[in-house]
Amino acid sequence: MEGSLTARDRVGIQDFVLLDAYTSESAFLDNLRKRFHENLIYTYIGTLLVSVNPYKELDIYSKKQMDIYMGVNFFELPPHIYALADNVYRTMLAEFNHHFILISGESGAGKTEASKKILQFYAVSCPSTKLLDNVRDRLLLSNPVLEAFGNAKTLKNDNSSRFGKYMDIQFDHQGAAVGGHILSYLLEKSRVVHQNHGERNFHIFYQLVEGGEEDLLRWLGLERNCQQYSYLVQGDCAKVSSINDKTDWKTVRKALDVIDFSESNIENLFGIIASVLHLGNVKFEADHRGYAVLNNSPEIHWLSKLLGIPAQVLQKGLTHRKIEAKTEEVLSPFTVEHAVYARDALAKAIYGRTFTWLVNKINESLANKDSSRKTVIGLLDIYGFEVFHVNSFEQFCINYCNEKLQQLFIELTLKSEQEEYEMEGIEWEPVPYFNNKIICDLVEEKYRGIISILDEECLRPGEATDLTFLEKLEGTMGGHPHFVTHKLADQKTRKTLERGDFRLLHYAGEVTYCVVGFLDKNNDLLYRNIKEVMRQSKNAIVKHCFPSSEPDSKRRPETVATQFKASLVGLAEILMTKEPWYVRCLKPNDGKQPGRFDDVLVRHQVKYLGLMEHLRVRRAGFAYRRRYEVFLQRYKPLCPDTWPNWKGTAAEGVELLVKHLGYKPNEYKLGRTKIFIRHPRTLFATEDAFEICKHELATRIQAKYKGYREKGNFLKQKEAATKIENCWRGLKARKEREKRAWAVKVIKRFIKGFMTRNQPTCLDNSEYLAFVRQNYLTRLKDNLPKSVLDQNTWLTPPPIMQETSQLLKALYTRHMVRKYVRGVTPQKKMQLQLKGLTSSMFKGRKENYPYSVCRPFVDTRISEEDIHIKILQTIRHERIKYSAPVVKYDRNGFRTRFRQLIFTQTAAYLVEEAKVKQRVEYNALKGVSVSNLSDNFLILHVTCEDIKKKGDLVLQCDFLFEALTKLCVVANKQNCIKVVQGSVRFDIQPGREGFVDFKSGQEFMVYRAKNGHLMVESTKAKSR
Ligand SMILES: Nc1ncnc2c1ncn2[C@@H]1O[C@H](COP(=O)(O)OP(=O)(O)OP(=O)(O)O)[C@@H](O)[C@H]1O
Ligand SMILES: [Mg+2]
Repeated sequence: MEGSLTARDRVGIQDFVLLDAYTSESAFLDNLRKRFHENLIYTYIGTLLVSVNPYKELDIYSKKQMDIYMGVNFFELPPHIYALADNVYRTMLAEFNHHFILISGESGAGKTEASKKILQFYAVSCPSTKLLDNVRDRLLLSNPVLEAFGNAKTLKNDNSSRFGKYMDIQFDHQGAAVGGHILSYLLEKSRVVHQNHGERNFHIFYQLVEGGEEDLLRWLGLERNCQQYSYLVQGDCAKVSSINDKTDWKTVRKALDVIDFSESNIENLFGIIASVLHLGNVKFEADHRGYAVLNNSPEIHWLSKLLGIPAQVLQKGLTHRKIEAKTEEVLSPFTVEHAVYARDALAKAIYGRTFTWLVNKINESLANKDSSRKTVIGLLDIYGFEVFHVNSFEQFCINYCNEKLQQLFIELTLKSEQEEYEMEGIEWEPVPYFNNKIICDLVEEKYRGIISILDEECLRPGEATDLTFLEKLEGTMGGHPHFVTHKLADQKTRKTLERGDFRLLHYAGEVTYCVVGFLDKNNDLLYRNIKEVMRQSKNAIVKHCFPSSEPDSKRRPETVATQFKASLVGLAEILMTKEPWYVRCLKPNDGKQPGRFDDVLVRHQVKYLGLMEHLRVRRAGFAYRRRYEVFLQRYKPLCPDTWPNWKGTAAEGVELLVKHLGYKPNEYKLGRTKIFIRHPRTLFATEDAFEICKHELATRIQAKYKGYREKGNFLKQKEAATKIENCWRGLKARKEREKRAWAVKVIKRFIKGFMTRNQPTCLDNSEYLAFVRQNYLTRLKDNLPKSVLDQNTWLTPPPIMQETSQLLKALYTRHMVRKYVRGVTPQKKMQLQLKGLTSSMFKGRKENYPYSVCRPFVDTRISEEDIHIKILQTIRHERIKYSAPVVKYDRNGFRTRFRQLIFTQTAAYLVEEAKVKQRVEYNALKGVSVSNLSDNFLILHVTCEDIKKKGDLVLQCDFLFEALTKLCVVANKQNCIKVVQGSVRFDIQPGREGFVDFKSGQEFMVYRAKNGHLMVESTKAKSR
């Protein structure tokens, strides 16, 4: 961007304000020319844009270019129509006010193109949504439609606007284009019926004939040949190389769809266009009385079909007029000439009114129904000043219009600007300029102006003609410096004027008007009866265009010129309420040629457009001014003293502000009510600073607001939290209270239950007792005795469970016993039986018996390997049942001997190694004595009659209970055991007796007592 800027800078000067020789027209032209030859068609004079028509396509209107110019400060980039458009748009958004862009220049200078470029820029640069795109498309496509119906090829311009157009683009506060409205001004209707040589009728006729689909043409009764239609051939140039009617037709058709024209609208519309062509071909002949009759041409048939009016009615309407004769109305026939005139008047009226309908229809589709406030940017693209070889009423109107716009420009720039400086007390060297008010007055002044005189002539009874009008003019205007006629002119000038001409010295140059047709065109008369005929039309548009409410001829409608004048006053009023921006279009040559810069032509335009004066005022003046209040309001954030509120006067505030901003004294001036800033760059620098500051402020405000919002949220949340907390606490407290109440009840019941626990079950204690029961049972379950022998582990039951407890204990014991019994092996069972036997014999009788209970019995205490083989051989046939080591006490002297005691099936043996010391058959065993004390002595009493036989055996055996039990079983002598107290008598040998005395002592001792008895002292408990 930077690069392109410097490259462009090198070619001339991009703002005339910077031109050194700013008073020199040549320097001005040089700069324009230099830039033009480099295809730099745009140059600024301050914020005014000068544009020179390049007459060729330049690559400067792409989307990329639009992006470059979007949101960039005006003077930062090379001059461009986009820069202006963007600047207008941004100013509108910033100041939220209305603006308009006045595009002026003579015919063919590029006004329409410029307005299209601006519209395209907005279409691309404005925010868009699907809905907005629709508006955008309609805004854009309204152009080709209006151009088709309102533009035509003229000698000056192949696409010359033959109507004035003011278009408002409406923006919402976010800058989105949300709607539009078009005002159209005076369409050059005469073109419908007549074109000068080298000119064409309106484009739409050619587009329809050239581009219309076969079916459509057939339906409209048209041929694809423009030469067939007399309204299209008068200029003799139906075909133009720069215009492609076929493609333009397609664009228009598409556009009509987008703008929401219904099929019937479109049908009716083209029906009208075709009707005009047919109307042009209607020919009249004179009958024998010289009155016009139709030569029964097929045109009437098509007209009747397309307009939906019976052919007869049409025919009559075209050849007669209604005149009022005292009390009645009579139809008076036309002469041929008159009929042709009426026919053309009808064609013009139909076309003109249809054009108005079209504009209204487009406005309907562009209308924004939303009532919120909008700002607008108005685009004024009006027909340019034009001078032809022969100039008529139309040119008079067009040039008058340009004169008015020039006056507006002067009012808003040169005049008001200088007046303002004076008013504000700013030192100022007045810049002389040509004020065209004198010409405007010449045309429009009441009673004395050309329009007034023309109207007067039109309305005057009697034979008023164009020439009487001219005479009147001469009579009134004689001597006016800007008005001359053949009669009034000096000799030299007279040669250049015809008798029927008058010449006006317009701001843009001299134009000679031929008065022929002025009255007619100004009257724009359409006979009443043909209007009535049109009212019968079945074509909805025609019907709409000729409403029955239209005032009839009894009251004359306003003349064309007066209407036009009024509409221009209206336009000026519209524009005066808006901020103006200017695009001045220049035409480089008359030949529509690219690259040719005609110095004389351009110099002339520069002159009459007042560009030099504008430059001088700009140079000497100030680019920007604002009322102190407005300026301060906008920029006060830039100075700490004025922000946020300034208490003093606005002027003082601004003074302080600009000092703070560091404005140099020559950069600004302080007027009475306004500040004036000389250079745009000063303002842009301020604007840039404001932009930055705005963001900072916005951030601060945003932060504050966010803080405020968050605080609000926080407080809300806190309140909510407290509320929830309260609710929750309440809920919890209520639950707690319920729980406590419940607990109190339960505890009360419990206590009552406890107090009445010993009473029979009743309401008060049933629950408690159930609890006690359950509690006891639960505890009992976990504390059951682990073994069948455990007699002590059993929970003490509460009183009410005594019985249950007993039952359960028995049950559980039984269960354990059962379990135990089931787990007992046959050997164990056998042993237990033996133990049972032992118990029956010794339980409660012998002191050390309890200690033996836990010692299991074994089969034998001496294995067969430990018994001497000889012994085994000796007693093999008897089978050994049990054996145990014993201590034998000699019967005499009680010496101790270790022996083996073996029980067989039949006898007990006392064995010493391989020797059987004594054999006692069980039959001979009389009994066995043991003491009741805790010793292990046993005395076997044997039957002993034989003296030789040994006597009783006194033995000590560690396995006393086991051995004795085995003996009882083997010998089958359960009752032979005797538990004795004190002493045991035994037989030493038959007839000789000995004694063993037993007593308890401190320790276990066996000794021979003094009395010769064997004394066995055994400890009491645990003496084993
Ligand atoms: N910026 C441009 N780039 C290329 N060609 C242009 C440009 N501006 C104008 N032209 C050419 O000049 C022709 C005339 O321009 P335009 O129709 O805008 O003139 P105008 O000022 O509207 O004239 P009128 O007053 O007759 O309506 C255009 O058809 C186009 O060929
Ligand atoms: Mg135009």
